[in-house]
Amino acid sequence: MRSEPPLSTDQRLHTMRVRAHLMEEIAGGGGWISFERYMDIALYAPGLGYYSAGAHKLGEGGDFTTAPEISGLFGACVARQCAEVLRELAGGCILEIGAGTGRLAVDVLSRLDALGTVPTRYLILEVSADLRDRQRRLIAAALPHLADRVTWLDALPAAPLDAVILANEVLDALPVARFRWRTDGCDELGVGVVEDAFAWVSRPATAALTAACQRLASAAVGAWDSGYVSEYCPRLQPWARAVAQSLGRGAVFWFDYGLPRPQYYHPERHEGTLLCHFRQRVLEDPFENPGLQDITAWVDFTAVAEAGQAADFDVAGFTTQAWFLAGLGIDREMRSLAGDDEACFARLANQARRLLLPGEMGERFKAMAWTRGVERELSGFALQDLRHTL
Ligand SMILES: C[S@@+](CC[C@H](N)C(=O)[O-])C[C@H]1O[C@@H](n2cnc3c(N)ncnc32)[C@H](O)[C@@H]1O
Repeated sequence: MRSEPPLSTDQRLHTMRVRAHLMEEIAGGGGWISFERYMDIALYAPGLGYYSAGAHKLGEGGDFTTAPEISGLFGACVARQCAEVLRELAGGCILEIGAGTGRLAVDVLSRLDALGTVPTRYLILEVSADLRDRQRRLIAAALPHLADRVTWLDALPAAPLDAVILANEVLDALPVARFRWRTDGCDELGVGVVEDAFAWVSRPATAALTAACQRLASAAVGAWDSGYVSEYCPRLQPWARAVAQSLGRGAVFWFDYGLPRPQYYHPERHEGTLLCHFRQRVLEDPFENPGLQDITAWVDFTAVAEAGQAADFDVAGFTTQAWFLAGLGIDREMRSLAGDDEACFARLANQARRLLLPGEMGERFKAMAWTRGVERELSGFALQDLRHTL
């Protein structure tokens, strides 16, 4: 068995500070806080949370790897999709939310440059100060001639833009509530302290959470047994609607791991979808090393579609990552990136397998598009349309 290197002194001190802050919150809450609050602090508390403090997070030596980190093919295909929309808008900018290391920004901009469709501006909304810094350095080094088009925002734009908005693996980082279904009601699973350690502690769910769970239960493909546990993301729809308000004409592309609601809340998925990432391992205990590990839950794509429709967008496409990339010609992009270099082609072919195979990212990850004022069909959704499953 592989033994894990111990935490560094800085890591130990950091997680102890986050833990102490959480303990104070729990004491202030009378011995209990919701899991949504726990996740919010563990990920976003200023100077402490996983995304607000300086944990390494992404890529080589980080905690997890995303599609843009696996291969430039992802960004090349996304760029083709952006180009279709930008041409129809006759200009416009790109807004990327949660840009990670900046890899997707670099790959999208350089492919658009080659296609002759560079956006007027490339805006990045990023909550993590250290990721902003990594993005700035990567973009300046990789694309010095385009770096002055890139601007970082502190909040969503107040005036609507004509734009393409991109968000890869951002929705899964929104804090979720956890619930346990009973035949005669619903409990909320929150966090308390037992023998000086964080522990799940249940309370009767509020009327709002109970009503939300009843809606989810009625959408599921079968009846839940008593004891069924899952998550619900109360912030998803308000946040996605706020994103919608920042767009005049254009498209929003959401990429993430997730499912349509009937499948997400399938009776067999009775322990929910909550996961943690630390040092490239998937862990199940969100109470371990708070502030050092990512905490995520799968995305209910029916909720994403509902938010788009409520904001007067068309849900223009929903498909798996594999079919999205195939529709945009990932095979052609491989040839174009590799040129005559056969070793490079073989490397890209390996990367493509990770992006496309069902056992890797191909099926778990989905792509959804919302559009407003865009008439043309989007190539990413031309080969497979899963909207009827939402
Ligand atoms: C899982 S990482 C994905 C990074 C990148 N999109 C990629 O695919 O490599 C989540 C990203 O979203 C950012 N983030 C999380 N919550 C956010 C929010 N509410 N607003 C903007 N960015 C956010 C994180 O700092 C990080 O850059």
